[in-house]
Amino acid sequence: MASLVIDCCTLCNDDGTSTEAVTWCIECEVFLCTDCEKHHKKSRISKAHKTMSTKDYHNLPKFMKEIRGQCRDHKKKYELYCSVHACPCCVMCITDKHKKCQEMKPLSDILKQVKSSASVQLFEKDLKDVKENLEEIIKHLNSRINASDSQKTKVAEEIRSMRKSIDDFLNKLEKEILDDLESKQSQLKSKMNTLLQQLKAEANHINQLQNEFSKMIQYATELQMYIGLREIEKTTSQAEKYIEDLKSGGPLDEVYLEFTLSSELNSIFKDVKSFGDINFNNSPFTLQVKEGRKGQAQHLVPTITTLEQIKPSMVRHLTIPEDRKRLCIDACGILPDGKYLILDSNYSKSCLLLFSNDGMFMREVVEFTEPTWDTCFVRNNTVAVALEIKNQTALVDVEKNKIFKSINLSHKCLSVTSDGQILVISSLEKSTIVNLNDMSHKILEGVKANSVALFKENIYGTIFWENKVCCYKSTGETLWTFMCDGIDYPQGITLDKTGLVYIVSGLNDCLLVVSPDGKNYKTILSEADGIKCLRAIDISRETGIMIVSSETSIDSDDSKSYQTAFVYKI
Ligand SMILES: *[C@@H]1O[C@H](CO)[C@@H](O)[C@H](O)[C@H]1NC(C)=O
Ligand SMILES: *[C@@H]1O[C@H](CO)[C@@H](O)[C@H](O)[C@H]1NC(C)=O
Ligand SMILES: *[C@@H]1O[C@H](CO)[C@@H](O)[C@H](O)[C@H]1NC(C)=O
Ligand SMILES: *[C@@H]1O[C@H](CO)[C@@H](O)[C@H](O)[C@H]1NC(C)=O
Ligand SMILES: *[C@@H]1O[C@H](CO)[C@@H](O)[C@H](O)[C@H]1NC(C)=O
Repeated sequence: MASLVIDCCTLCNDDGTSTEAVTWCIECEVFLCTDCEKHHKKSRISKAHKTMSTKDYHNLPKFMKEIRGQCRDHKKKYELYCSVHACPCCVMCITDKHKKCQEMKPLSDILKQVKSSASVQLFEKDLKDVKENLEEIIKHLNSRINASDSQKTKVAEEIRSMRKSIDDFLNKLEKEILDDLESKQSQLKSKMNTLLQQLKAEANHINQLQNEFSKMIQYATELQMYIGLREIEKTTSQAEKYIEDLKSGGPLDEVYLEFTLSSELNSIFKDVKSFGDINFNNSPFTLQVKEGRKGQAQHLVPTITTLEQIKPSMVRHLTIPEDRKRLCIDACGILPDGKYLILDSNYSKSCLLLFSNDGMFMREVVEFTEPTWDTCFVRNNTVAVALEIKNQTALVDVEKNKIFKSINLSHKCLSVTSDGQILVISSLEKSTIVNLNDMSHKILEGVKANSVALFKENIYGTIFWENKVCCYKSTGETLWTFMCDGIDYPQGITLDKTGLVYIVSGLNDCLLVVSPDGKNYKTILSEADGIKCLRAIDISRETGIMIVSSETSIDSDDSKSYQTAFVYKI
């Protein structure tokens, strides 16, 4: 806690005494006690120094307190500002780390307006916006968590309700079959009971006759005996016949009660494997948050990259395998992960080749049987390849090594460029903007280019036979046209993150950089730098790495030259 810290007067402390400080001198960067402060105020040198109470000093954020007005390395006051490195410097720094930096300005000029500048308000607003956005998202996420709780409850209810329906249904089926069992068995039982009654009656009758028979022998006359025996004979034979009939007629057949389980019910165990599935159903994040200022960032100190500052330094060249030394490079590109792409084409076939970050050949991505002219990175693992006379542009998945979409156009496809949202496909007659979200096409009649590039919604193109470079709006309207003696047969075109336009001038082996307004230019590479037969170029705006296709000779023997690509840091 700031209030617990007791600051000691730095000057008294140097003298070996410890006095409580009350003031902080911003310029001397020392604590002062009441006495020392008086002297400090009177002294001619320090009279004008700005001071603040120690309390206010401790109210500064920690990281700001740690920012000193003195250079750590040289212990000298910061007096200058280097625009190249965007940092303050002391007089010693100039001869040390900033020897080559040309844009040194007096620090006081830079600092003069810091507190009153519009940036303060903008940054304050940015902080506020970012905080509000974070809070919005946190709120949103909290309500999503609640929503998922209630989704869980709802699903569980659905499961239980289904379970109950199944129970009810099975209970009903069970009752039906038990009722059926009951009724069938009672039918059977009643039939057998009836038969039993008949049999008992018959047995009684015979039993009675049997009793009477012995009496008949004792007491009857002979005539009575004669008629009586005939009567008995008749009854016995009737009873025998009745038994015979019963035996053969079926009433005595044995009837069993049997049960067969319905096959559907039986297959429940086999067919029903689960109650259902629980899955995630994604939908895109739709919460509206405040847009940052992104492209129009207000920097405290404008860091203008001037044409003079562009000095590419060679990093490496791609190592071309022996069996591919006849390749003919149409286009080259840098992928976001730093790997390199080469479009190798001659009139019989063409291939998209992948090279690792350190310039070693990795693999052939895809092969085309028709002439290709250009390639560019689109997004994720997708790159586009312009198939010239087929009036088609192919989208290739670089990871899966396959073409996954072909886009038909109404003109030849000489060049293709993309910002991840759209493709711009150019020809020497007209160009087309393809919106990658809905695949709609917009034809730009006036936009002609043999090589095309995109930067902040403007389209840049080279027209080789007119030795011209044009900048167009996305509506097709021309913003500026650049021509100069230094350009001979312009080919590849690309832009760096500051909007400088890099142009390959094919016939005089130069690489030119044109200012964003198309008014100035500078040659940054030429034959003297060992480049030859230039054609294609690409820049990674994130890393400032540039790749340029060029011919290289083996042991300066021109007859043994082959094509490769040089990689530079700009
Ligand atoms: C989430 O639910 C808890 C308790 O059920 C409640 O206190 C909280 O306000 C809810 N949050 C939102 C963002 O709905
Ligand atoms: C074109 O490619 C084929 C097959 O790779 C090769 O045989 C031929 O020499 C190449 N042509 C040129 C002009 O490089
Ligand atoms: C491609 O990248 C974007 C973000 O850059 C992401 O939203 C999208 O899901 C990715 N698509 C695929 C197929 O990976
Ligand atoms: C593109 O054109 C080719 C003929 O060049 C045709 O076979 C194919 O069906 C077309 N594709 C679409 C999506 O129109
Ligand atoms: C390609 O488009 C051009 C017009 O730019 C047309 O003349 C040509 O016939 C088309 N080719 C194919 C294969 O559709």
